[in-house]
Amino acid sequence: MVGSARQPLARSVRAHFTSTSARLVAYSLVCLLASHAAVAEAPQDDAKWLEPARSRLMQEKGGLPFFPHRANTPNNAVLSIKDFDDAQVCGACHTEIYQQWRSSMMSHAWEDPIYRALLRHASQATEGRVDNFCTGCHTPIGLTTGQITSSVNRASIEFTAEHNPMPGVDCETCHNISARTGLDNGAYVLSPRAHGKPTKFGPRRDAVSPYHDTVYSGLHTRSDFCATCHNVTHPFSSVAVERTYDEWLESPYSFNGETCQSCHMPGFVGKAAMMGPERDDVASHWFSGANAAVLEYLGQKEAAQRARSSLREAAQIEFFHVPDRILPGQQVSVRVKVANVGAGHKLPTGFPEGREVWIDFHAVDAMGTEFYRLGAIKDGATEPGTRNFKVHLGDKDGKELDIEVWNATQILSDNRILPKGYDIREFSFQVPSTAVSPITLTAELNYWPFPQRLVDFLLGKDKLQVEILQMATISQHVVLAPTEPGVAAAGVGSGP
Ligand code: HEC
Ligand code: HEC
Ligand code: HEC
Ligand code: HEC
Ligand code: HEC
Repeated sequence: MVGSARQPLARSVRAHFTSTSARLVAYSLVCLLASHAAVAEAPQDDAKWLEPARSRLMQEKGGLPFFPHRANTPNNAVLSIKDFDDAQVCGACHTEIYQQWRSSMMSHAWEDPIYRALLRHASQATEGRVDNFCTGCHTPIGLTTGQITSSVNRASIEFTAEHNPMPGVDCETCHNISARTGLDNGAYVLSPRAHGKPTKFGPRRDAVSPYHDTVYSGLHTRSDFCATCHNVTHPFSSVAVERTYDEWLESPYSFNGETCQSCHMPGFVGKAAMMGPERDDVASHWFSGANAAVLEYLGQKEAAQRARSSLREAAQIEFFHVPDRILPGQQVSVRVKVANVGAGHKLPTGFPEGREVWIDFHAVDAMGTEFYRLGAIKDGATEPGTRNFKVHLGDKDGKELDIEVWNATQILSDNRILPKGYDIREFSFQVPSTAVSPITLTAELNYWPFPQRLVDFLLGKDKLQVEILQMATISQHVVLAPTEPGVAAAGVGSGP
């Protein structure tokens, strides 16, 4: 049975101190480095959208060149498109790595239909104030080469593919990152020509390439590399929207040296480049996560399959308490334990408006009559009362937000499962007096990246069928004790 579940971990405040001080250092660093060329427009006088500390920063010329995003470039200059190659160019030599990356969600981060639909809403609702913000992570090169405007952000995928082709998170994005100035909101430094020529930052000290300079980067071997984009803070209200990196930092994985790369870029035997040496641990670039629904929609069938496997490795489910015998007509209570055994962060993590894990619980009698269920889908969402694991964001009035995340000022609740932690949830129901013994209790653990209702709102009805992935399941038969007068209560040893 299940063995590896441990006590949920207490949240530590250490990480917050670390990230706050890192942020201060970052700010002063940015100010020191700042030259006259401020790229972003000065912030408008609109208290609603500007958090004071950050708006003051903008008074310093060039404080954050792509405000409110934290991307940096050498001298805060806008970069030239000519400094970046298309991923296909890299793919000519890095064939295997290219194919792996091409199938990943990050390579589709700009053309992702869910992203673009939400971006359009966000851009309109905030009158363009989040335009830089969103794009600095979903198309870093698009932002830092000055291609982003509200009209680009609000255009259709077909239109921008033709008129404003921009990469998602591609080879050039990650391998031109020379440093970071913080741990959230894209605080990377993009330096395509670090030494006056094309330079790639990577994990090897002995890599030699005929096409580009290579520079060893310890940053690329560590999780804080991913932190720049996998910690999202609301730029104005400072709400911690996504915290995948912090969740990892506060987990046993970080103490044991298991990084994002260990799980999401496991090594393979082969060549990093065609003319390079054979190596026994080349970093793979599948970046498998969980979004099978969108990968399938994008035609990435194998990547969708890998996402399903990683989800199935992440969790275990077991009955924690089931009465041995139950009386027909009795009110019973069954407890189910769900453990996060495989994810190095909370389960689920990431995009808070959507990601949801829940238990779909069924009780069926021997005749196949289902007399209790909790966790079904109703109106495109999990039904009220569903035992789920999710974060809920709220606005200033405490109203829950599922779409207008830009209005978030608080986290209403967060019951996601900590890495190596578990949670126990209860189901209470009445067994009908007519139920035929034995009954079967089933608990399925499901995941979806977003409710159908959210997708229907964003894309229109019948555009994308959200797949519900079964991560784990467990069933148990329970004998019904006969309804004899005199049998007091169900439990061990009772019955005839
Ligand atoms: C003409 C072939 C060729 C092209 C084109 C090419 N590379 Fe390379 N690259 C190599 C070789 C060879 C190596 C060394 C591989 C090894 O040592 O295992 C390498 C190594 C690397 C490394 C590892 C550096 C390190 O220090 O760990 C990175 C990162 C990299 N390339 C990125 C890119 C990117 C991004 C592009 C596209 C802009 C690209 N390469 C285009 C041949 C090429
Ligand atoms: C999301 C960021 C990201 C993207 C996108 C990305 N890489 Fe990497 N790449 C990394 C990191 C991080 C490492 C180091 C992993 C490690 O050390 O475990 C790496 C390692 C490498 C290496 C060295 C592999 C080895 O083990 O010798 C090469 C070569 C490389 N990448 C090329 C590419 C190419 C080509 C592309 C595009 C097709 C690409 N990368 C896309 C982050 C990225
Ligand atoms: C420049 C920003 C950036 C960096 C750096 C970055 N990511 Fe991402 N990553 C993204 C964005 C944006 C998405 C979401 C794409 C989408 O769903 O449209 C994403 C998505 C993912 C996914 C989700 C796939 C899924 O199925 O849901 C995984 C896994 C992932 N990244 C791993 C990593 C790892 C590991 C690193 C560090 C080696 C890393 N990322 C570094 C921006 C980044
Ligand atoms: C111990 C292995 C492990 C480590 C360490 C780990 N992950 Fe994951 N990650 C997983 C597994 C398994 C899943 C699929 C289940 C899930 O969604 O949590 C996943 C899912 C994801 C997803 C997709 C979540 C979603 O629902 O959209 C992202 C993004 C991601 N990881 C990023 C990261 C980043 C960034 C780090 C480092 C800060 C990291 N992971 C560290 C194993 C790991
Ligand atoms: C600091 C980097 C960062 C910023 C800024 C950012 N995102 Fe993301 N976004 C991510 C990452 C990382 C993921 C993947 C998380 C996961 O897989 O759960 C993601 C996922 C998403 C998704 C889910 C896509 C899918 O297919 O499931 C949507 C939609 C999205 N972002 C929209 C936005 C919008 C709109 C904005 C601006 C208001 C924005 N993002 C700003 C990093 C960022």
